Amino acid sequence: MKRILTIGSALLSAAVAFAQAPQLNKNNIDEVVKAMTLEEKITLVVGANRFVGDENGPGPAPGMPERRSVDMTGLVEKPKSDGVTAFSSGRVKGAAGDVVPVERLGITTMVLADGPAGLRIDATRPGDENTYYCTAFPIGSLLSASWDPELTQRVTTAMGSEVLEYGADVLLAPAMNIHRNPLCGRNFEYYSEDPLLAGKIAAAYVKGVQSNGVGTSVKHFAANSQETLRNGQNASVSERALREIYLKGFEIVVKEAQPWTIMSSYNKINGVLASENRWLITDVLRGEWGFKGFVMTDWWAEENGARQIAAGNDMLMPGTPHQYADILAAVESGRLDIRFLDDCVRRILQVMVASPTFNRYEYSNKPDLAAHAALTREAASQGMVLLKNGNALPLAKKRKVALFGVPSYDTMVGGSGSGYVNRAYKVTVDEGLEAAGFRLDKELAASYREYVKAEKAKQPAEYFWIIPTVEETVIGPAEAEAAARRNDVCIYSIGRMAGEGGDRTLTPGDWYLSKTEETNLDVLCEAFHKAGKKVIVLLNMGNIVDMSWSSKPDAILHTWMDGQEAGNSVADVLSGKVSPSGKLPMTIAKHYEDYSSAKDFPMSNGNPGDVNYDEDIFVGYRHFDRYPETILYPFGFGLSYTSFEYSGLKAEKSGDALQISVKVTNTGKCSGREVVQIYVGAPEGNAVKPVKELRAFGKTAELKPKESEVLTMTVKLSDLRRFDAYEREWKLDKGEYVVSAAASSQDIRENVTVTL
Ligand code: GLC
Repeated sequence: MKRILTIGSALLSAAVAFAQAPQLNKNNIDEVVKAMTLEEKITLVVGANRFVGDENGPGPAPGMPERRSVDMTGLVEKPKSDGVTAFSSGRVKGAAGDVVPVERLGITTMVLADGPAGLRIDATRPGDENTYYCTAFPIGSLLSASWDPELTQRVTTAMGSEVLEYGADVLLAPAMNIHRNPLCGRNFEYYSEDPLLAGKIAAAYVKGVQSNGVGTSVKHFAANSQETLRNGQNASVSERALREIYLKGFEIVVKEAQPWTIMSSYNKINGVLASENRWLITDVLRGEWGFKGFVMTDWWAEENGARQIAAGNDMLMPGTPHQYADILAAVESGRLDIRFLDDCVRRILQVMVASPTFNRYEYSNKPDLAAHAALTREAASQGMVLLKNGNALPLAKKRKVALFGVPSYDTMVGGSGSGYVNRAYKVTVDEGLEAAGFRLDKELAASYREYVKAEKAKQPAEYFWIIPTVEETVIGPAEAEAAARRNDVCIYSIGRMAGEGGDRTLTPGDWYLSKTEETNLDVLCEAFHKAGKKVIVLLNMGNIVDMSWSSKPDAILHTWMDGQEAGNSVADVLSGKVSPSGKLPMTIAKHYEDYSSAKDFPMSNGNPGDVNYDEDIFVGYRHFDRYPETILYPFGFGLSYTSFEYSGLKAEKSGDALQISVKVTNTGKCSGREVVQIYVGAPEGNAVKPVKELRAFGKTAELKPKESEVLTMTVKLSDLRRFDAYEREWKLDKGEYVVSAAASSQDIRENVTVTL
């Protein structure tokens, strides 16, 4: 009897506590915060991995300090889970992290899943005959190479519906760090050397995903410009370069698209870890830009949880017992004022109450993958960049094609790491060309397919962290000559894999072509040119390589990494079904040493972890405009199958903006789309400035021959300011501004001047 009474009274008091405890809704957040215990608050800000995942993740990068040891007894307990609000990282298998709910107060979990090229969750689950494949969309650099925010938004509207229908709440994307140096391993996920292009593409990306009622996490905030020693390397950057280059894109996204969350970066900025940087996260991001969401760390970011919370970094992902202990000890010792913690909890709850999980959305696990496959096929064809075309492209149908190069048969459709997608299939270039009606040289195709199959059989299966690639084979002169006799045209693919966690190297097979790639190109050009036939090179990579060989082939098409419909997208462009309209979002210089950051990448003066951004604001075309002789293919460059004329450029001041318009006419023989760039050269004033800076851009609709379109663009006068680091404020210099309408940063079509 006694026992029944005690159990009864315990249940009663629990029920009473439950009954008294406010249940979270969008109108009682402050009340819920007040009702939370200290442990419950810390539980919300430290991710669920602390229960189920590995305690310390990959640990600090080599050369970086070990973590402080803390007593973690009793802090790693198995979570309760009722299956409905179950939160341990099994709720959506393969999600990168989730939040520990506090059921007593109606606080649910929140599921955070990668990544920029599509949702990454496990496609199969033990004991479950259903599949959970996601669409592998093109990589970030292809979206920016399309210069098409509207297309980007359509792509990510589809991507966001997969986030919603597979039960996740936040997509850990877009990734938008500046291409400071072409050897950064993650450039494939990022957009550009220019913050305006990066910011506009990222803003469109966020709007698309969030139109589904799910969130994004714009990353990595900020100046995460390399992978070497990423967990703590220090970026020494002037405040002007931060403001005008490395933060500007994030500012655009926050102000134009209100992302639900931001992910702080691993690195230090001027000596302070981004995730512990109150100036960055609270003063600038929230105080100046009005960011309303919450900030999470990158995964296992170097942690001093208390300092991260005090900086306004609200959530520590994926969560470790160490972090929980650190924050608990800090509050109890007074090292961390509880009000910082309350602010973080409040900001997380403000986002949570809008999330599908909190609102018990009944997700279907059945997103429209067929429609998304068609969309990714279209999107990829809009971002490919035609760098050279000596009357080689487009190919008429049914042409006999000698298709060379391993990537033509084992096409790279996306990168590894958190940017990987568990897709159901991929269409390779050979498959896409055949499906489009091209007649591939059978003997050649068979030998490549057999070789690729045999090599892959020796390799471990690809998984998100490692995508094995197959070594290129040597093409003999006799084989090339025979192929030249049998076929009408040669296509040769050169590929590079990409992934997070490491930067690229100045070696053959990476930045430079390998010996095999180089001699293959020579052998093919020799044989096919002797036979009076063309050689087309396809670049299948997430970034760029040394292009000192570009004079050899007749045509070069940068196809990037195109997602699961890659082969079809490539065929759509090669066949002329789609005229290439992509333009370079970064500069391709004649030599690596021409890049302004070359001497300071990945570190300066050989100091592990120290990087001086001594090029300051002169990154990309801002640098190359001063040394045009070092440019091979300029920022903003890309050919079409047709040609365009610009006329009637106007730039008029109206209120606090410049209204700009320019007419674009298709003067060629086939349809196409044109990307127009608006650069503005500011008067010198009392600061060193770039020759000109990208201030707006637009892309025409598909124009038929002789058709025209007038593009109108607005540039806010405030966007013409420079940051005065001495007075720590933005300044608009008076004087004459030169407004240019350009087809690339080195192809100015029209200029007008405006006096401000
Ligand atoms: C990774 C990446 C980040 C990703 C996160 C979760 O290390 O830096 O982009 O979203 O961890 O996988």
